[in-house]
Amino acid sequence: MQRLPGKIAFVTGGARGIGYAIVEKFVAEGAFVAFIDVDDSLGRDAAHQLGEARGDVEFHRADVTNELEVRETIAAVIRKHQKIDILVNNAGINAYFDATQMSEAEWASISKAHGSARSTRCARWSPRAAGPSSTSPRFTRR
Ligand SMILES: NC(=O)c1ccc[n+]([C@@H]2O[C@H](COP(=O)([O-])OP(=O)(O)OC[C@H]3O[C@@H](n4cnc5c(N)ncnc54)[C@H](O)[C@@H]3O)[C@@H](O)[C@H]2O)c1
Repeated sequence: MQRLPGKIAFVTGGARGIGYAIVEKFVAEGAFVAFIDVDDSLGRDAAHQLGEARGDVEFHRADVTNELEVRETIAAVIRKHQKIDILVNNAGINAYFDATQMSEAEWASISKAHGSARSTRCARWSPRAAGPSSTSPRFTRR
């Protein structure tokens, strides 16, 4: 039995790796998944493979370090689907090298990608993103 029928999920960094696997699993469990990625070409291919034609997923190119892009994408998803039930802040940069040898720019870009978690901030701007059972004011305040 599927565990997520009727659920709307939002996944960041879904074009490959762990994010892709999360989208794939959520779809298998019956959810609709909107996912974002900074890599447009990879994201489009992933959406094609993950069932865009069947209406299981939709892809938006957006950079999690860019507040406006994430905010607009979250708003578009909520406009279309009325809610977001599940939010996965997965996007990030794997640094498979010695941290002591990294340049300031490399360190900053990795920290920025991991530290932003903008989708959480942006999703709370919609009261419906919190779901009907939530009465917490932090989901309704802007
Ligand atoms: N793979 C591991 O062993 C491991 C271990 C611990 C934590 N993590 C974390 O898990 C997450 C996924 O890891 P992965 O191995 O699948 O990485 P990956 O590099 O295979 O995939 C990351 C995805 O995020 C996207 N992305 C990167 N920066 C982005 C941005 N600014 N905005 C939007 N999308 C962006 C990339 O384009 C890519 O599609 C990362 O945050 C990573 O740091 C991974």
